Amino acid sequence: MCGIVGYIGNSRALDILLKGMKRLEYRGYDSAGIAVRNHDEIETEKRKGRVDDLELDGLFDGNIGIGHTRWATHGKPSDENSHPFFDCTGSLAIVHNGIIDNFVTLKEELEMAGHTFTSQTDSEVIAHMVEEYYSGDLLDAVTKTVSRLKGSYAIVVMHRDHQELIASRNQSPLVVGMGTEENLVASDVPALLDHTNEVKYLMDGDIVRITPDAVFIRDATGREVDRETKVIKWTVEDAEKGGFEHFMLKEIHEQPKAIHESLLGRLVEFDEVDFARYDIRHINIVSCGTSYHAGLVGKYIIESIAGIPCMLDLASEYRYSSPPDIYPFTVFISQSGETADTIGAAKEARRRGCKTLGITNVLDSSLTREVDEVIYTQAGPEIGVAATKTFTTQLIVLYLMAIELGLQRGKLLIEQAETYRNELRKLPRRVEVLLNDTEEIQDISKRVLANAEDIFFVGRNINYPVALEGALKLKEIAYIHAAGYPAGELKHGPFALLTRETPVVAICVKDSTYEKMLGNIGEIAARESPLIGVGQEDHELEKLCDEMVHIPDIPPLFSPVLINVVLQLFAYYTAYNLGRSIDKPRNLAKSVTVE
Ligand code: G6P
Repeated sequence: MCGIVGYIGNSRALDILLKGMKRLEYRGYDSAGIAVRNHDEIETEKRKGRVDDLELDGLFDGNIGIGHTRWATHGKPSDENSHPFFDCTGSLAIVHNGIIDNFVTLKEELEMAGHTFTSQTDSEVIAHMVEEYYSGDLLDAVTKTVSRLKGSYAIVVMHRDHQELIASRNQSPLVVGMGTEENLVASDVPALLDHTNEVKYLMDGDIVRITPDAVFIRDATGREVDRETKVIKWTVEDAEKGGFEHFMLKEIHEQPKAIHESLLGRLVEFDEVDFARYDIRHINIVSCGTSYHAGLVGKYIIESIAGIPCMLDLASEYRYSSPPDIYPFTVFISQSGETADTIGAAKEARRRGCKTLGITNVLDSSLTREVDEVIYTQAGPEIGVAATKTFTTQLIVLYLMAIELGLQRGKLLIEQAETYRNELRKLPRRVEVLLNDTEEIQDISKRVLANAEDIFFVGRNINYPVALEGALKLKEIAYIHAAGYPAGELKHGPFALLTRETPVVAICVKDSTYEKMLGNIGEIAARESPLIGVGQEDHELEKLCDEMVHIPDIPPLFSPVLINVVLQLFAYYTAYNLGRSIDKPRNLAKSVTVE
């Protein structure tokens, strides 16, 4: 899981690479490195740390180069394990994102042939393998090399004697950007947008030769192919902070717009998937992390709106489970569309004979190729590692899907569907109202949450998964231990942990569990834990809680969207008060492309 970028053209490659790498740091940021071809020599700088830590005084004047930001898999973060990697003679350099599963065997073979390795990484075998096959034709050497690789990779290769870059991908993302007398290649679009909005997404097995004025692609069979040129509609500014101190805060505040975009054109007719083609008696939702929590909320949404029984699986567990004797319509949720666990699970679902749907935010991402149907959330680019607006728009898609399924199954009358759609229409405004006044949330985060070592989040029914997500967000960016619980379960063990030092965030809405929830909150209050209520104006709730955050009036079924925004802000402001690295939390990455 890393970010790679390559540039060839007339400008100073170094500046372009550095900018691109910074835009890709969300993919990993424990080491960084670049290589630039300068008068038939390759100059390089790489080290443990962020892109900003690179020491770049002098030299680096060429206009061909490659860059890398790393998220360590094989070999700890260190200067030696940073990319780019070189062959034995320093003639060629490579950057790699992915995992080479057979690297041990290849390394042994190359060592036997006399190659000397300088790192513990799997990636370095690629440089030596290209060297082994090279006899003047770089494209040919890379083609032979990738035919030997097992696992996932996106690579870019440069050679000091060549006015070209060679790139290839398999199960790791890679996109070519076509500029004017310059071309680029990168793991993700934000790294290209300063130069072009015309891109070609490479397919698994593609090998591409890039010169300043041409892009030549061969597919896995060696056939010359073209990949459709797509025009990216969002701008660099869309992907930049726009006055907010962190991407995460910007992205939290973009949620009204993101919801609006995700609803656009879909409230009258949601026809991206013809669900009638499938015999949907059971749904299985499979995903990881925050997307898994969206799936859990989705279970409540689908069961209550469409009446279809829903199961949930964590993608990392799904592949290793024994398939039940049914073939559920299987839905994969992944904001990035690149999570290896989720992609692996999608392949397994197909193998089991299930019909599949992917819900993702990233156009043409790997997941889209492994499923029968795709629905895109329209969140726009999300750069902060902690998922915010992508989660919210995943919920939007799940509401839309549930309404569609409910209508089709005759479970939902047209009038009822219209009532639901109206609630969806009102959501952007309601989120906006919430975001206009966050003072109380900021104050509670600073006074109560930032001083705690353990925090519980409790909810019931549809807001139980929201409690899970609130706890995850806090762990991710504030580094405070937090646990999400269904409120009724606390008494079966976790009560032993409740003290005056253990704040409990209690989500309470007026659904069928309301009375019980008040009872649960009362039990927590009796243990003297500081209680932070989140819900609508409610006298009963306020009496029990020490602190209270109000959300605008909303039917319980739609309340997760608003409650979750409150919990995102709790995590953000708590992390802020603790001086954490909010957009790039330690040890994490935006999409994890390894299992
Ligand atoms: C990583 C991210 C999480 C994310 C999870 C699933 O662990 O840090 O924020 O929820 O991957 O990502 P996906 O792209 O599949 O939604």
